Amino acid sequence: MDLYEYQAKDLFHAHGVPVLPGRVVTTSAQARAAAEALGGTAVVKAQVKTGGRGKAGGVRLAGTPEEAQRAAAAILGMDIKGHTVHRVLVTPACDIVEEYYLSFVLDRTHRTFFAMASVQGGMDIEEVAARAPEALARVPVDPVSGVDAAKAAEIVQAAAFPAEVAQAVADTVLRLWDVFVAEDATLVEVNPLVRDPKGAVIALDGKVTLDDNAGFRHPDHAELADSAGQDPLEARAQARDLNYVKLDGQVGVIGNGAGLVMSTLDVVAYAGRAHGGMRPANFLDIGGGANAQVMADGLDIILGDPDVHSVFVNVFGGITACDQVAIGIVQALSILGDTAAKPLVVRLDGNNVTEGRRILAHAAHPLVTMVDTMDAAADKAAELAALTCAKGA
Ligand SMILES: Nc1ncnc2c1ncn2[C@@H]1O[C@H](COP(=O)(O)OP(=O)(O)O)[C@@H](O)[C@H]1O
Ligand SMILES: [Mg+2]
Repeated sequence: MDLYEYQAKDLFHAHGVPVLPGRVVTTSAQARAAAEALGGTAVVKAQVKTGGRGKAGGVRLAGTPEEAQRAAAAILGMDIKGHTVHRVLVTPACDIVEEYYLSFVLDRTHRTFFAMASVQGGMDIEEVAARAPEALARVPVDPVSGVDAAKAAEIVQAAAFPAEVAQAVADTVLRLWDVFVAEDATLVEVNPLVRDPKGAVIALDGKVTLDDNAGFRHPDHAELADSAGQDPLEARAQARDLNYVKLDGQVGVIGNGAGLVMSTLDVVAYAGRAHGGMRPANFLDIGGGANAQVMADGLDIILGDPDVHSVFVNVFGGITACDQVAIGIVQALSILGDTAAKPLVVRLDGNNVTEGRRILAHAAHPLVTMVDTMDAAADKAAELAALTCAKGA
C-alpha cells in the first residue's frame, strides 16, 4: 500500500524524523483558514499518490491566506498523471538552503535492502540518477544487522553530505530506518530532505510503501487505506480475500497457483497477438484449495469487469482435484445465473482430470468451451474475446 505524503510524514513524525506540521483540507475555503492559522504564508500541496507534483503545478507557495485559497482552488480537481486531486496539504513554507535525497528500498533483485542518498535532491533526482549516477550513493544494508550509528555514518559519507549537517542527517537516517523496520515498509523516501538557514534538516516530502503482507502486525495501518483511490474491482476482490490484480486487457484469467496464473498471462498475451492484440484483463489466483464458492467469487469479480470479453479458467488439479474444480465451475455458473454472460474457456489438467472433464461435458453449459491444452485454450479465449469486441459488446 502506498501512502499519501501527509500520511508518510505522520509516520515520520511518530518515529522522530523532523517534519513540518500541516493540515489536510478538501476545499479552498478550508485552505484559506489553514493558511491563516499558520500566520499567512503557506505552501499548498496536492495530495495524490504520484511524484512530480511540483513540476505539474501541484505545489504552490502562497504569501497570504487569499493566495492560499486561490492556490487550493487551482490545485483541487487537477489531474496529475491520471490522479485527480481531492485533498491538499497546507503546510508552512520552509526557507530552503539545500535539497537532499534519502531513501531505503527493498531490492528484490539483490535480495537485500539499499540506502540511497544524494546531496543533489529535489525535483530533478531522476535526471541526476540518469546523468550522474555517482551522485546518488547506493549503500547495501544487511537485513539482519540493519542500520546502526556506524552504518548511518557510512551512508552520510558515501553521499558526501556537508560536515555541518552530517550529524543531523545521520540521525535522520537512523530514524528513517526505524520507520522502515517498525512499520514494515518496502520503501521510505524523503525528497527533498532540506537544510534550513539554521542548519536543521527537515523532511519536506515523504513517500512510504507499506508491505501489505505484514498488515496482520499493524492493525493501525488499516485506517491508512484509501478506498477512494483503489480500483473498485480490486476492492471487491480484497474483501473476499482473493489475489486479484486488474490489468488492461480483454481476456479474464482465473487459475490456481500464482505461478500458473503468471504463465497463463504470458500465454494469453502471446496468443492474443493473432487475434487483434487481445490481452489478459487481470491476474486472479484462487489458490490451492478452491471450492465452488471461491470459484463463484472469482468468476463474479471477473464477469463484473466491463473490459472482460471472455474468460480463461486454467486449473491444474493438485490438492483440489479436477472433479472438485469442475463441480465448482458448474455450481458457480448456477449461483451467478444470468450475470454470467461471457464465454468461458476451461482447461483442466492434473489430478482426476477425466472425471472433471466428464462433469463439465455432462453439464453442457452453453457458455463453456473445454479445451485440453493451455496454448489452445489461450488461443480460443483470445479468439472469443476478439469476436465479442468486434461485435461491439
Ligand atoms: N513546505 C515547503 N516549503 C518550501 N518549499 C517546498 C515545501 N514543500 C515542497 N517544496 C518545494 O517543492 C518541491 C516539490 O515538492 P515535493 O513535496 O517534493 O513534491 P513532488 O516530489 O511531488 O514534486 C520541493 O522540491 C521543494 O523545493
Ligand atoms: Mg518530492
